[in-house]
Order: sequence, then structure tokens, then C-alpha cells
Amino acid sequence: MNPDTAFNGYICAHVLHALERLGVFRQLHEEQVIDIPVFCRENKLDPDVFRALVRAAEGFGYLDAHADHVRATAVGTDAGRTLGFFTWGVGGYHDVFANAAPLARGERRFGLDLHRDERMVALGSAQADTALMRHILDEEIAGIDFHTLVDLGAGVSERISRLVKDRPGSHGIGIDISRPATLLAHETVERYGLRGTVEPVCADVLDILFKGHEIEGGDQADVVMSFMFLHDLLAAPERRAEVIPRLRKSFPRAHTFLLADTTIRPRSSGADSRLPVFSSGFELAHALMGVPVYTREEYEHLFEQGGMHLRRTVPFGAPHTYLFVLETS
Ligand SMILES: C[S@@+](CC[C@H](N)C(=O)[O-])C[C@H]1O[C@@H](n2cnc3c(N)ncnc32)[C@H](O)[C@@H]1O
Repeated sequence: MNPDTAFNGYICAHVLHALERLGVFRQLHEEQVIDIPVFCRENKLDPDVFRALVRAAEGFGYLDAHADHVRATAVGTDAGRTLGFFTWGVGGYHDVFANAAPLARGERRFGLDLHRDERMVALGSAQADTALMRHILDEEIAGIDFHTLVDLGAGVSERISRLVKDRPGSHGIGIDISRPATLLAHETVERYGLRGTVEPVCADVLDILFKGHEIEGGDQADVVMSFMFLHDLLAAPERRAEVIPRLRKSFPRAHTFLLADTTIRPRSSGADSRLPVFSSGFELAHALMGVPVYTREEYEHLFEQGGMHLRRTVPFGAPHTYLFVLETS
């Protein structure tokens, strides 16, 4: 990237995130056109600010505006699939990226006086799931028997609600450490009409694995999943090798674990060396937070060491992201 594309990319990412938050892409997807005065009136927006955002997005090639009417360009239409990455990066991690220098100097510490926006991180993950991953998981889970499904680091519980809804008679527990994400998860469950069937629980999965913390119904889980969360469980080096055996022990009836995560991209110089969306942000954000991330091979080795049988590794929609399908026997 030269300085022009780097700078413009930074501004463009913020513009795309703003338009997504304002519901522009949703309306363009549903109705193909936005009437600026009507849209501003209905959404109580400052028309000058909104027009400035539209002009910026036009400059970046995402929108086409004629008089008061705005439409998406081909790039803008295509961007719909990747908006979750902007929610994640701009919405969730803007403070972390902006404070990289103070972090490097030790003047700020992630988790103490510097935080990510957990709500946006969870929302961005859910958006990426809907756009890029869900059809892959649906295909995989179609052949798996389950009655009680547990999702670890469930975020807003979108995924577990959808899977339980599609499997009449099943139950779900979505566990997440974040209160804001768990509050949103209750809204998700309501939206799916699954109150009492899917239970969002605010808890630290590490307490379940290492401190004997029990979640009601958790011992009944026959399938345990986790998405974009495994690296958080593995963060402490002294416990890393114990995480997989503890997962098996904490969910003794589970016959299948579906664990998905983004991996470190291989550093090759060949045809594969193109820098895709997300990978650079994923790797840098975790380095700034002091959370190690892993290669695909490191994950596969860890599962094998922990006594799980890897049935298959499935490319999972986002760049360098895989779904590991694991069996306990
Ligand atoms: C990247 S998000 C993924 C969310 C969701 N699995 C998805 O794919 O949409 C990681 C989630 O793990 C949660 N998390 C992090 N550490 C946790 C812990 N120790 N116990 C439970 N949840 C945790 C975060 O709050 C966040 O919602």
C-alpha cells in the first residue's frame, strides 16, 4: 500500500462503518435506492453530515448519488458481505489501534485503561457469520446428532439461536463473559422466539474449565461449539496444553466439538501472498492485546495432543479461518 491508499483506506473504513451503522446498506439491499431527505427525516439524521458521508462514499466508489437519490455501485453491493469486518475493526478495535504507540511504550495497558468495544466485536462477528460462514456450518451440522448445543464465547447468541431454531426439540446455551454481549443475546433469543429454549449465560469459560464453575444444563451438552474464541481460551501459556482435555472433561457427554477460528496467515511469497481483508487486523489487534494467535497446524497439533480426533478441517468463509470438526472418540 502506498501512503495514498493507506490513508484513503483508513477514512473509507470509517465511512463504511458509519453507513452500516446508519442502516444505509440495509435499505439499499432491500429497496435499492435512498431518498436523502426522506432517509434523514425518518432516521433523525443531520442532512449535512449525511450528505458528506455519501459524498465520501461516492469518492471511494461505493455509492452513486444523483440529486437526492443514492444507489450502491457494484463495489458497494459487494461490500455488504464484508461489513462485519468493519464493525469488528472500526467499531470494536478503533481505540486499540489508535493507541498502538502508547501500548508499545507501556503507557497504556489493554484491559486496564484501554478497552475494545465488546458489543461491536460481538456484532461484527455475528455479521461476518451471517454473510460468510453460516451456510458452511449448516452443511456440517446437518449430519450431526444433537439435543443440547453449547456455544462458548457465544457473543450475541445469533448462531446458536439459528441452529436450535432449525432443530426442533433441541436446546441451547450461549456462554459469554461480556455483559453487553449477553444483554444483546437476550434480545436475539427473543427475536427468534426461543425464550426458555436458548439460554444466554454471562460467565467466564475459563472458570468452567479450570475452577469447576458449573452452568445449569451444561453437563447435558452433546455438541459443543466455539467460534473465533479458541485463541482467547489458549491465551495463558501455562494452561494452554490443558485447555482441550479440560473441554472434554467439562462437557463429558459431548461427542462432537465444532471449533472455528482465524489463524495466522502463512507468510509465503507465491501466488498466495495477496493480503486479504481481515487477516492483518486480526493479527495486529491480538498482538496489541497480548493474546497469541496460532497457525492452522498449531491448532491441529493441539487437538491431537489433547486427545481429540480431527474428522476434518473446513475452510470457513473468512480468510485463513477454519472450522475444525472434532470427535471425542
Ligand atoms: C470474536 S468474539 C466471537 C463471538 C461469536 N462466537 C461469533 O463468532 O460471533 C469472541 C467472544 O468471546 C467472548 N469471550 C472472551 N473471553 C471469554 C471468556 N473467558 N469466557 C467467555 N467468553 C469470552 C467475548 O466477549 C466475545 O463475545
